Amino acid sequence: MTKTRNYVFEQVSKLKEEVPWISLVNKTPVTKLENIGEEYNIPELYMKRDDLTTNIYGGNKPRKLEYTYGKIFEKKYEGIVTLGGLGSNHCLATTVFSKKKFNKTKEIKVTLLLMKQPLTADVQKKLLMFNNLGANIVYSGGLLGVAYNYFFKRYKNFYKLWAGGTDHITNLGHVNAAFELKEQIEDGELPKPDIIFVTLGSVGTMAGLDVGLTIAGLDDIELIGVKVAMNILWFGCTLYSERKSAKKTLKFIRKYTDKFNSIKLKKRKVLTDYVGKEYGYVTEEAKNALKIVKDLENIKLDTTYTGKTFAALLDYVKSNPVSDKSILFWNTYNSRPYDPFRKKDEDWRDLPKDFHRFFLEKLY
Ligand SMILES: Cc1ncc(COP(=O)(O)O)c(C=O)c1O
Repeated sequence: MTKTRNYVFEQVSKLKEEVPWISLVNKTPVTKLENIGEEYNIPELYMKRDDLTTNIYGGNKPRKLEYTYGKIFEKKYEGIVTLGGLGSNHCLATTVFSKKKFNKTKEIKVTLLLMKQPLTADVQKKLLMFNNLGANIVYSGGLLGVAYNYFFKRYKNFYKLWAGGTDHITNLGHVNAAFELKEQIEDGELPKPDIIFVTLGSVGTMAGLDVGLTIAGLDDIELIGVKVAMNILWFGCTLYSERKSAKKTLKFIRKYTDKFNSIKLKKRKVLTDYVGKEYGYVTEEAKNALKIVKDLENIKLDTTYTGKTFAALLDYVKSNPVSDKSILFWNTYNSRPYDPFRKKDEDWRDLPKDFHRFFLEKLY
């Protein structure tokens, strides 16, 4: 796979001078989901394979981390402190790209403030990998404990990054992704989608795509977010927060160009019925969607994020006729194998004591 271009910098050259950035991400393919399309009567169903964003670790996080690590290297931070659930993909991606062998620049120290989430085998693997990769992991209980450790403890010369890694600058990663998609449409890799389904967590992925589709001239594509967390974890996993974040990113881009002055963001929709009891809760709909995508297309989704979004897509097509519409599922989950981050002799007893209980309690 080849690296993607920074289309946003090409569009707005002054941004390139102002915004630190490193290149991590490949141009990801688009796959037609023929088997699911046939079974569920969605003749034009496609998946943007952002599960393959880098050769080592995929998913939506590397698109954001290009800007996060750009800033860390430019400002010469020694480390990064961030937070997430015990099995956070954001924490794993951040830890992976803190390694010199993966960021190709410099080793960065990592402190992860982790909070409780429903315990699954994947959560246990993540904890082992954080430890194998040398992250300093701190169990902080619930959100209050995490917030206390994040806001009130001192991390000298560490860059602070909130859960999910979203801000108005890291959103540029997904603004860029929209331009990448535009090129793929122009190259005939897929028809222009009528609808895109994407997961909504800390809102950055959707907000970036929202701005990107608008300024790339694809604003007639309907962008539908699927909420996967109660508001408290990310302060606002809501359409309102998405709008706020998108507006801030557009305003930021406009500081460096007057090209997009007349452009207005479109109305967007967020589906809110798929979270289940709490963030990370394994719903029957998500499990079922995961099985369908695995059995029919041999692509692995997860139960916290993408399984819920695919479940929403399947429900949507049941109640809305789509036989003449093209639908794109934006896959944000890493599908690269964990092998490079595992060790043959890894043992949970080597983790800090606070984490041992997560290897003794019953799994979900
Ligand atoms: C697999 C996956 N999909 C989607 C999301 C949500 O993306 P965002 O936080 O940009 O809304 C996350 C966030 O952690 C994730 O890990």
